Amino acid sequence: MTTDRHAGASVTVRVPAKVNLQLGVGPKRADGYHELATVFHAVSLFDDVRARQVKPGAGISLTISGEDASELPLDETNLAWRAVLLLADHAGHPADVELHLQKGIPVAGGMAGGSADAAGALLACESLWQLGIARAELMELAAQLGSDVPFALHGGTAIGTGRGERLLSALSRGAFEWVFALADKGLSTPDVYAECDRLRGEKRVSAPVVPPEIMQALRAGDAVALGAALSNDLQSAAISLRPVLAQVLEVGAEYGALGAIVSGSGPTCAFLAADEEQALDIAVGLTSAGVCRTVKRATGAVPGARIVA
Ligand code: C5P
Repeated sequence: MTTDRHAGASVTVRVPAKVNLQLGVGPKRADGYHELATVFHAVSLFDDVRARQVKPGAGISLTISGEDASELPLDETNLAWRAVLLLADHAGHPADVELHLQKGIPVAGGMAGGSADAAGALLACESLWQLGIARAELMELAAQLGSDVPFALHGGTAIGTGRGERLLSALSRGAFEWVFALADKGLSTPDVYAECDRLRGEKRVSAPVVPPEIMQALRAGDAVALGAALSNDLQSAAISLRPVLAQVLEVGAEYGALGAIVSGSGPTCAFLAADEEQALDIAVGLTSAGVCRTVKRATGAVPGARIVA
């Protein structure tokens, strides 16, 4: 926690983006969600969430900075705001805080940027208000906010089941080099799941599983095997809604990516590189092909949400 002369105490939490190394989507459940078997992997694109103490009764205020800041709501429809309300209600603490989000994770990009902000808001306010809430309890609150929020707290590499909120840490060796191609416009996660259902039609969908190849590749720290094992059941739905993504994936593969997939519900595309040099080749190739808005490099896996100031 830090304090300065002009304002109250503040806590800043840094939260990573995620890519799903594998995303198995099962049948739609009665509650409208899909049963998942997925491997989450936290990568070094970050949002910073700062919570600052304000006068009692001042309520919640929210500001956002960063590339896509203007696209995001600054009211209770923002998931970070809802996280503050949920935590305050749960702990019986007044919901008074000034929240600031510094965005480094693409908005509506399939990398759980909104979930990262919610996880950051939970952890920052829990610390600022000195609530002493246990980790497991915070994870439960996170799951109430969204399927990807618990993983933003967890970080590293983890298997996700249920709707993605039930986590099991995965053994992984070494660090992997990634390149991400960011799109001009986001995709809505519910729209992509609905398109997946539409494409499947009446086909029988079996329960999703995490293939053993991917866990072996992670345990061995084998980037070549991991690249070959990457898969995403939402990919054809994302491409159906945004056909240019097929071309983005092709360009990355042409420049030698070990694996190329749509990240989560997209439209960000993720490319696994053998090393830093190849990551640079892929990034330059994607940029010169002009198939995406911008390119970002990152490494994984990195830790989940943590207090940095
Ligand atoms: O949990 P979250 O609010 O992030 O989910 C956003 C939307 O994504 C849901 O409303 C649902 O349409 C879809 N979804 C799904 N199955 C999941 C996770 C998300 O259908 N396991």
